[in-house]
Amino acid sequence: MIGPSACFHGGIYSVDPNLVKVDFSSSINPLGVSKYVLRSITKDLGSLTSSYPDPECRDLKENLSDYLHTHRECINIGNGATEIIHNFARMYARKKVIIPSPSFCEYELASRRMGACIFFVPLHNLHLDADQIIEKARGSDAIFLCNPNNPTGLLYKKSLKKIIERIDNSTKILVDECFIEFVDESDRHTMIRSIEQFDNLIILRSLTKSFGLAGLRLGYSVSNSKLALKLAAGRISWNVNGIAQRAGSAALMDLEHLKKARTIVQEEREFMYVNIRKRTQFFAPVKSDANYFLIRIKNNKYSSTEIRDSLLTKNGVLVRDCSSFTRMGSNYIRVGIKNHVENLILLDALESFEN
Ligand SMILES: Cc1ncc(COP(=O)(O)O)c(C=O)c1O
Repeated sequence: MIGPSACFHGGIYSVDPNLVKVDFSSSINPLGVSKYVLRSITKDLGSLTSSYPDPECRDLKENLSDYLHTHRECINIGNGATEIIHNFARMYARKKVIIPSPSFCEYELASRRMGACIFFVPLHNLHLDADQIIEKARGSDAIFLCNPNNPTGLLYKKSLKKIIERIDNSTKILVDECFIEFVDESDRHTMIRSIEQFDNLIILRSLTKSFGLAGLRLGYSVSNSKLALKLAAGRISWNVNGIAQRAGSAALMDLEHLKKARTIVQEEREFMYVNIRKRTQFFAPVKSDANYFLIRIKNNKYSSTEIRDSLLTKNGVLVRDCSSFTRMGSNYIRVGIKNHVENLILLDALESFEN
């Protein structure tokens, strides 16, 4: 299925930013950036700003290789995971690309830029339709698989594995695990351990969400070293600035920060699920494995855009209107999980929408 481009990003710059008091539209570590990271960058801000950064990001790669228990030759660093999506598309999204849908918009934007023919394979009850994907992927150049998926928040285990095992290895597979660090430990099945088994597999990660570094832009990929070299050839020199490199290394020294954030996500996800169901009639939260979740609008009288606009103008609360995700329709919003006080503001806003 090839469709017209309907997707675009949300975030505070998609609306009047002056209206936003609490932003639930992006899904970042609920604690923000750690104090340890801030101290580490501010103490050397002058030299980090005036010197050229290491074009190879050596320190950061070393720290990532310890964190991931993988070889540094397998890692590529990007100016956000977004840069790597575009590099991947430039190298591999030539003619035919597969994207399960709805999913993260950037895969479509990057593939369209390359003039590739995009085949969207609809999710089935929000889950991957592995057989359809395997069937459609015949003869394709590339496939994007988001795990956990954005916007559904669902983690795919067996279906994802089945797809990776069955797809011909001439098709390059990008598995986007940018939110996997927020998944509960018992379910956190990364595909990083499979990069040697599948030489067409690239795993995408981001430090912007897990460590609250969205403004600095920092992402990375993990693949076998041969593929990593090919991807590296496509990037521009000094693609990652020095402050971002230092912040990334410091973040990996302070893993307690991520651990605390995970506890908040786990508790607040359950709290919000129970309380939205209890306190509202119009809104049905969808169970999620990630640090964000979908809310289905039960009442057909209002679209997701109308609800976003109303919550923003009346309450200063910004939610993600999911109608800009290809094939999502107009009866879902998505919210990030924040701290308890902020989550109560969202609950009140949803409740007051109905009155
Ligand atoms: C699934 C997914 N992958 C990648 C990205 C981009 O991450 P980064 O901020 O590292 O560019 C996003 C951003 O929202 C995302 O939702």
